[in-house]
Amino acid sequence: MSRLRISTRRTASQPLWPRLRDGDSCGRDRILAQAAARFGTPSYVYVTDVIAARLGALRTALGRWFSVSFAVKSNPNPALLGWMQGKVDYLDISSGGEFELAQTAGWQPDRISFTGPAKREPELRPVIAAGLGELVIESLREARLANAIAAELGMVQPVLIRIAPDHVPKGFGDHMAGRPSPFGIDIEDAEQILPQIAALPNLRIIGLHIYSGTQSLKPDAICENWRIFLEVFTHLSEALDLTPEKLIFGSGLGIPHHPGEVELDLDAIAQSIAPDLDAFRALPRFAGTRLVLELGRYLVGPAGYFLTRVVSVKQSRGTRIAICDGGMNANLAASGNFGMVIRRNYVLHRVEDGTAPPEEKHDITGPLCTSIDKLGSGVMLPRLEEGDLIALHAAGAYGPTASPVYFISHPLPSEIMVTDGQMQDVTRLRP
Ligand SMILES: Cc1ncc(COP(=O)(O)O)c(C=O)c1O
Repeated sequence: MSRLRISTRRTASQPLWPRLRDGDSCGRDRILAQAAARFGTPSYVYVTDVIAARLGALRTALGRWFSVSFAVKSNPNPALLGWMQGKVDYLDISSGGEFELAQTAGWQPDRISFTGPAKREPELRPVIAAGLGELVIESLREARLANAIAAELGMVQPVLIRIAPDHVPKGFGDHMAGRPSPFGIDIEDAEQILPQIAALPNLRIIGLHIYSGTQSLKPDAICENWRIFLEVFTHLSEALDLTPEKLIFGSGLGIPHHPGEVELDLDAIAQSIAPDLDAFRALPRFAGTRLVLELGRYLVGPAGYFLTRVVSVKQSRGTRIAICDGGMNANLAASGNFGMVIRRNYVLHRVEDGTAPPEEKHDITGPLCTSIDKLGSGVMLPRLEEGDLIALHAAGAYGPTASPVYFISHPLPSEIMVTDGQMQDVTRLRP
């Protein structure tokens, strides 16, 4: 294998980005109010039309290069996973538990890839035995373990090798590479480790995988990152003499959460990255390679609302505080405790009820006995009263299953799926 010298620093292009479109707020509030009345609060409402529209937009802008793989971790609701069948190309799971959820929702194992830095024997054995599409190898330890299991089962497991590049551009909410990281094989070590994996007889390397940055609202950063991927994929494929069947691009596509943030313009991303992807595709080695965008929040985040009802209002030293029935326990991310460095309010609104109280500043808190249970500070809203309903936006990803729902034993959040105007109780977490 030749020495890998991969420079991953680049200058960015600077396209223009239009504003986020707002939907039909009256129709939306009617549905949210009905969902809360029928199924209670706190609750999540997932609108599948929004997911379908976002998937359609992805395919229109980027579909000529990419298939789409949905990261189950972002929303493992079984009804949603079932709805996605036949619409989304693949699923990516990160545990044996997510594999079971995907299978129960009707997904064939060969459509599923399995990422995660700490895969254990009891979860590897059943997924390999079931005919998992691709195991995403994150270390030599894991490769050896998977090889031994596959050998015992008399199988050859297709694998993708996850690579951690040495650089992630600025502009991502979280970096999984470019610094010490548990995820994947560092590019600096690839030269030494990859041939050892390639030599394992019961694994077959069919491609590479990179997921190095998440939640970016900066198209230039996203394109710059994908250019890094293209360089890594090109160099490693040449070095391994690999003609990949599949290459996974961890998309990094972010969603607006906070007031003032704007939606990504996919067309502008496509325009900026087109020459790079076309040139890559023109290389004979990659002519038959399937490129896959792996993502979660971009598809499902904006399709979800988190509903919480005001239980009590307190006027405290000049601040009006609305204390609600669901807070950090039911929606950790919106409370700012899921990786946010400085807490900022999510976009939220008071669900219309036909009255129009004057606007006032509020703090919005949850039911927990801790001051970090806060969903909003200094938010201008129509004067809130007991019984009012509040909807937090972009709540369809990293919701109930990413929240400490058992802390202080309040009721678990319900989940409602709205498809073609029909509401269905799809609550997963039961007491
Ligand atoms: C390996 C991997 N794939 C997919 C995702 C999904 O990311 P997002 O929901 O930001 O699209 C993540 C998020 O951390 C991840 O680590």
